[in-house]
Amino acid sequence: MLTEIESPPAAAAPPTPAAPAPEDKRRYVHRLFTQIAPRYDWFNRLGSFGLDRRWRRAAVAQAGLGAGHRVLDVCAGTGDVSLLAARRHPEVGMIVGLDFTAAMLSLAQVKQRRAGAAVSWVQGDAQALPFKGATFDRVLIGFSTRNLSDLDGGLRELVRVLRPGGRLVILETGYPRHPLVRAGYQAFLFTVARTIGFLLTGRCWPFSYLARSVRQFLTPTQMLERLAACATQARYQPLSFGLASLYIATKRTGDARHA
Ligand SMILES: C[S@@+](CC[C@H](N)C(=O)[O-])C[C@H]1O[C@@H](n2cnc3c(N)ncnc32)[C@H](O)[C@@H]1O
Repeated sequence: MLTEIESPPAAAAPPTPAAPAPEDKRRYVHRLFTQIAPRYDWFNRLGSFGLDRRWRRAAVAQAGLGAGHRVLDVCAGTGDVSLLAARRHPEVGMIVGLDFTAAMLSLAQVKQRRAGAAVSWVQGDAQALPFKGATFDRVLIGFSTRNLSDLDGGLRELVRVLRPGGRLVILETGYPRHPLVRAGYQAFLFTVARTIGFLLTGRCWPFSYLARSVRQFLTPTQMLERLAACATQARYQPLSFGLASLYIATKRTGDARHA
């Protein structure tokens, strides 16, 4: 099932904005994922040497999914997090995968039909979620917080739809602690991963953006500060020596601002 909530205008966006205004970034990211959607899964597998699957398994495991849980996968893309959760936890009450890129959700639907999994898809904006407050027991978001045009607003929105005591799991690209490893990782993204992306899609600019977005993203300490400011108690878990990051945040009870 695909419920269409809102589709952003398909206006052309400049290929490499230096510090884009939020609405420009939103359009840019939407255009980017529309263009690379058919090769997105291949890029993930090849660009991470298959580690992306292990990282999603860790995220779903840390979500602590249980019987009857209402689960939201924000920026679901081609559905890997939602479908993994559905496969591993058939006991949950419902799983909703939300994304604003129709081309990504269409691929998610194809994979869902093949897997026979129970997931509902919603086309909508992570920064204006079409759900009432405290609707979900668990909210997950994979490799997408750095793509949000307003990170603080987006985090507040994720927490808003979570019930008090509920858990938010954020899987992101990493921040290796050792400066040399970090430099090597970032160099890899700008060279090997970008070349893989170009060979798969014939385009370089989406993969230059993705590499830049990793380099410019928050450190784990900064991310934990942002999560604390959104009325959650959060911890950080590095994956594969810091190549990926997991943030596990519990929504504090009794904070009316985020109810
Ligand atoms: C890197 S992909 C991640 C997909 C998936 N979570 C995964 O683990 O592979 C980022 C996704 O976020 C979506 N996205 C980015 N900003 C969004 C927003 N503001 N609202 C909804 N979806 C958004 C994109 O359309 C894209 O599908």
